[in-house]
Amino acid sequence: MRRNTVGDHDEAQRSGFLDALAAGRLPWEAYADLTAQHWFVYEALESAATTMADDPVVGTFLFPELRRLPSIESDLQFLYGPRWADHLFALHATTVYCTRLRDVAHRAATGFVAHQYTRYIGDLSGGQYLGPAIAQSYGLPGAEGHRFFIFNGVDPMAFKTHYRGLLDTAPWTRAEQDEFIAEVAEAYRLNIGMLAELQTRWGQR
Ligand code: HEM
Repeated sequence: MRRNTVGDHDEAQRSGFLDALAAGRLPWEAYADLTAQHWFVYEALESAATTMADDPVVGTFLFPELRRLPSIESDLQFLYGPRWADHLFALHATTVYCTRLRDVAHRAATGFVAHQYTRYIGDLSGGQYLGPAIAQSYGLPGAEGHRFFIFNGVDPMAFKTHYRGLLDTAPWTRAEQDEFIAEVAEAYRLNIGMLAELQTRWGQR
């Protein structure tokens, strides 16, 4: 799977928007907008965890400690203030992403795990560099405004090793494995689309 998606990852990394945020080249509102888009994505993803909880394979992939929605809401409260919910607007690409999540992550274990992997393992990888860089660039005090990147009680390296073991032993047929890999590629495309729209919105001001 890593072999199949390394090109997708390179493309996601090249999007420019995250680098620009890490370097503080964009207004703080651009970072707040990314956080707002995350609200929609993680709401759809984390409600899939509830919908799919009785599926035996999904059951082995449920990690309450990964839940990001409470952290995202705390970040939005810090960034926008008490009326943060008034600032939540889904970009077109975010709506497309969430529609896909509702179509596949709420229906099949392969779809759920593909989207879970792409987001959370990414958050536990590049996200661990991105979070502190953003905090520094935008002068975010302590954990305020960037709780999204901080996974309390999770050792990223150990977690990723455990998670890869689960992927390697998932009781999937060849067809399901192919479905999973194809959906990871789709999840990358959806993230690239969202970052591209954010870049268009904020990068050219
Ligand atoms: C500035 C942008 C990015 C940087 C600097 C970055 C950096 C990294 C690094 C260094 C790793 C390897 C960590 C390791 O092997 O332990 C990694 C892995 C990963 N990243 Fe990113 N990344 C970026 C964007 C993204 C995006 C947008 C996504 C998708 C939403 C993503 C998803 C992933 C995933 C799923 C992995 C795990 C790959 C595996 O299974 O080994 N990354 N990233």
